[in-house]
Amino acid sequence: MKKTDLILILDFGSQYTQLIARRLREMSVYCEIQPYNTGIRNYIASKKGHQIRGIVYSGGPASVLSKDSPDISDDNYEFIRRLNIPVLGVCYGLQLIAIKSGGKIHRSKIREYGLTKIKIKEKTKLFSGCKEEFNVWMSHGDSVEFLPEKFRKTSRSVNGVISSYESTEDKIYALQFHPEVNHTEYGKKILYNFAFKICGIKNLFLPSSFIREKIKEIKQVAGNAHVICALSGGVDSSVAAVLLHKAIGNKLICIHIDNGLMRKDESRKVVDLFRKHFHFKLIFVDASELFLKRLKGVTDPEQKRKIIGKTFIDVFDREAKKLKNKGIKIKYLVQGTLYPDVIESVSFRGPSVTIKSHHNVGGLPEKMNLLLIEPFRELFKDEVREIGMKMGLPERFIKRHPFPGPGLAVRVLGDLDKYKLNLLKEVDDIFIKGLYEFGLYDKIWQAFSVLLPVQSVGVMGDERSYENVITLRAVTSTDGMTADFYSFNKDFLSYISNKIINSIKGVNRVVYDISSKPPATIEWE
Ligand code: XMP
Repeated sequence: MKKTDLILILDFGSQYTQLIARRLREMSVYCEIQPYNTGIRNYIASKKGHQIRGIVYSGGPASVLSKDSPDISDDNYEFIRRLNIPVLGVCYGLQLIAIKSGGKIHRSKIREYGLTKIKIKEKTKLFSGCKEEFNVWMSHGDSVEFLPEKFRKTSRSVNGVISSYESTEDKIYALQFHPEVNHTEYGKKILYNFAFKICGIKNLFLPSSFIREKIKEIKQVAGNAHVICALSGGVDSSVAAVLLHKAIGNKLICIHIDNGLMRKDESRKVVDLFRKHFHFKLIFVDASELFLKRLKGVTDPEQKRKIIGKTFIDVFDREAKKLKNKGIKIKYLVQGTLYPDVIESVSFRGPSVTIKSHHNVGGLPEKMNLLLIEPFRELFKDEVREIGMKMGLPERFIKRHPFPGPGLAVRVLGDLDKYKLNLLKEVDDIFIKGLYEFGLYDKIWQAFSVLLPVQSVGVMGDERSYENVITLRAVTSTDGMTADFYSFNKDFLSYISNKIINSIKGVNRVVYDISSKPPATIEWE
């Protein structure tokens, strides 16, 4: 079996480090991010299925001139040099390599932030296919003052700052700018050149081999044990469950809990798909009454989330105990954890505030004393989607917008009851179907409806009405961290508004949310 080639990215704390990984993965180059102080010797020993072909030192917010700035230990540095593989330094990485190799960095008079032009002085492999002069994204206050003889300066910015250097003999390549940022013209090309022309990447990361390898690995790990899965119908857990099912068949037991907070017919659709199409062993639990009872009168959004999380664990735990009483021993829990979550938690800066406190099944493994199987720990969301489609999940299911764990509870503002939830389910169904009808669904990152806790006056026929107000929300985004509202045309908005008001009793006004994130969030609660 051929080993997949690997590029290791050492993270010095840049906000763009993840982007380097994204760009390489977009070219099917397998790469991983590790904190800068990872012991490389042990790391490589642990990557038996991979062949390391190159290393990237990322950018970082510190200055190499500060006393406690992140540094690579001499032992690691020497070890990397002896590996004799290409190293690419980006921004902070460029400066660190310069210092380590006997060069000098100084606090520059000219600080470069944002778009700058560079001029290439020498046509190198790294710059092959690039124009002689192009725009790059810079973000630095320090710059190279002096470089050892064997390093060739290959470009300068229009401000005269050294913007790249290399030593082919030592397999060292360094860029002062960020090739991973979209604003850098030829950024992707430069990373491509590094991976393919310089590191010589050949064995790519392909979904089909990933599926094959993972199935083998899961079989080995799980052996004869039973594995349990909380199958909400979200993309990550669904694809994880299908993979597990391929590996261990009926030893996988899925539990789908209807908490009453899902979209119209959602539970039925999930159960149908996995029972009828995939023939899963699937336990369906209708716990909607219990969830609603516990949520009665609760208006605080965080409180709602906590109650939902706890109730979920209670119900799941109860079902697992039933299985135990039947003599079925469960050892593992499957989770659809993705690579961005892993990077967050291993970052040397410690888990950042962006980590969501609301992971749907958080707390389950400890409470039930289960070991975790997380087959997608190394993957990004779009890779999981591709794998899902390869394994036969319908495209429409795979391409669904994200849906929050607490579901409609955070979209019925204030306290909730069955009436309000049903009203919102019907409204949302019209909105989402409309998006499909107009061919807009896939252009939008996330779209949904919110029931506001206010009533407004209207006139229907000859009668005055005093009814509910619905807000529509539709945003474009790449990762949910920032978002902008989607610009619908008037025809669509008036079609949807009329359809909702004419067919849903209890709604007499529809408004559209035009806030971006930040400062607003995507959800209203
Ligand atoms: P916000 O509202 O924070 O949402 O801009 C960003 C993304 O996260 C989703 N979201 C949640 N997902 N549990 C989840 O599983 C939650 O409590 C939760 N709150 C927000 C939201 O739908 C959007 O995709």
